[in-house]
Amino acid sequence: MKVAVVGTGYVGLVLGACLAETGNDVLCADVDEGKIARLKQGHIPIYEPGLEPLVLHNLREGRLAFTTDVGQAVERSEIVFIAVGTPPDEDGSADLQHVLDVAGTIGRRMNASKIIITKSTVPVGTAERVRAEIAKHTKTPFHVCSNPEFLKEGAAVEDFMKPDRVVVGVDSDEAARVLEELYAPFVRTGNPLIFMDLPSAEMTKYAANAMLATRISFMNQIARLCEAVGADVTQVRRGIGTDRRIGPAFLFPGPGYGGSCFPKDVQALVRSGDDHEVPLDILKAVRAANERQKRVLFDKLRKHFDGKLRGKTVAVWGLAFKAETDDVRESPGLVLVEELLCAGAKVQVHDPAALETARRQLGDRVTYAAQAYDALRGAAALAVVTEWLEYRNPDFTKMKDLLTRPLIVDGRNLYDPARLARLGFTYNSIGRPLACASS
Ligand SMILES: NC(=O)c1ccc[n+]([C@@H]2O[C@H](COP(=O)([O-])OP(=O)(O)OC[C@H]3O[C@@H](n4cnc5c(N)ncnc54)[C@H](O)[C@@H]3O)[C@@H](O)[C@H]2O)c1
Repeated sequence: MKVAVVGTGYVGLVLGACLAETGNDVLCADVDEGKIARLKQGHIPIYEPGLEPLVLHNLREGRLAFTTDVGQAVERSEIVFIAVGTPPDEDGSADLQHVLDVAGTIGRRMNASKIIITKSTVPVGTAERVRAEIAKHTKTPFHVCSNPEFLKEGAAVEDFMKPDRVVVGVDSDEAARVLEELYAPFVRTGNPLIFMDLPSAEMTKYAANAMLATRISFMNQIARLCEAVGADVTQVRRGIGTDRRIGPAFLFPGPGYGGSCFPKDVQALVRSGDDHEVPLDILKAVRAANERQKRVLFDKLRKHFDGKLRGKTVAVWGLAFKAETDDVRESPGLVLVEELLCAGAKVQVHDPAALETARRQLGDRVTYAAQAYDALRGAAALAVVTEWLEYRNPDFTKMKDLLTRPLIVDGRNLYDPARLARLGFTYNSIGRPLACASS
């Protein structure tokens, strides 16, 4: 099928490459000229495991191409995905300006009947706004579908290729038939393709993200209480995660959730609830708990230094909001760095993939280390923020030599407290008893 993907970011690029891989003829369009120029030359603008070979292979095979001409992409395609950003507006609601811009272009360039699919995360009612915007400019009949995306950054290709399920809101049997054909290669092992009405599909995406954010914040608060009462959250997590009614996923405590989705989607759902006079009290609490949690590593560090961080050097491992991505949007790592700088500390940072994206926000206010150990040289503490594999089994002897004080504050519970105490560290993790050097 001839497919256009408008918006070539984390979602659009993965979507375009995966659809090309299954034999479709895909043209990805974006207004960012620099991004498109790089993509045309085979340079992938984001770090996402498995994406580069997929893009390069399909470019070579001629099934994937890139353009800045959104109208041209619309004209030559039977199916048009809208995958542009929906950042938070000033009042917390999703800003639909880009989505509606694209809808306007689609309407103006509608040269034959097409299926228009919103892939961006958008509030209930957006599909109808897209329909109305397109209809302003054309008399040609068209279909509008809502197909929210559930991929995780860091495992986006894998998630798209083998989704737990695909949710599609449709306005007709004909649109359902086309989408069934398009998604058939991805649901061969029996994972369901779930058709529903448009508002329910739009709501499903927010409900899914809100549920996951709730589980994270719930565990973060249980972890805080564990620390206060002398329990170990790792044991508690095992104890509850094995209950089939609860399940083990998304129960790891940490430094607060970040990224481009959970914070803005929770916020947008809260806003939508308020607009409809259905206050979403649980999600308001989730959001407040997460804001507090993003300060947890800073608070721990401040305590270790009796509030005197001015002039101290602190190493930070991990700036990406999670492992296997270079995305630093709403990252707890950046919150920590800003707090440390504000308190007068010097900060030395390392991240295997996100130094360049972080540099756009932090500029020359921190020292960037090319190797993880370089960040430790002369630092009085290490804060571990992102769960990158290379941080999981480091050389602790070397670390102790490089640090001026053997203090590790760990937002991801990567290490064994008893072992670190034996090695002479003070080790402060999340929801577990403080480990101090054993004499
Ligand atoms: N990133 C994720 O993990 C993820 C997962 C599921 C859903 N989503 C949702 O998918 C949507 C896209 O997210 P993303 O992370 O890919 O965003 P992104 O910021 O990485 O990419 C958006 C792209 O859209 C382009 N764009 C903006 N306006 C445009 C226009 N008028 N015409 C053409 N291109 C335009 C931008 O230049 C940018 O390249 C959002 O609604 C997001 O909530 C994201």
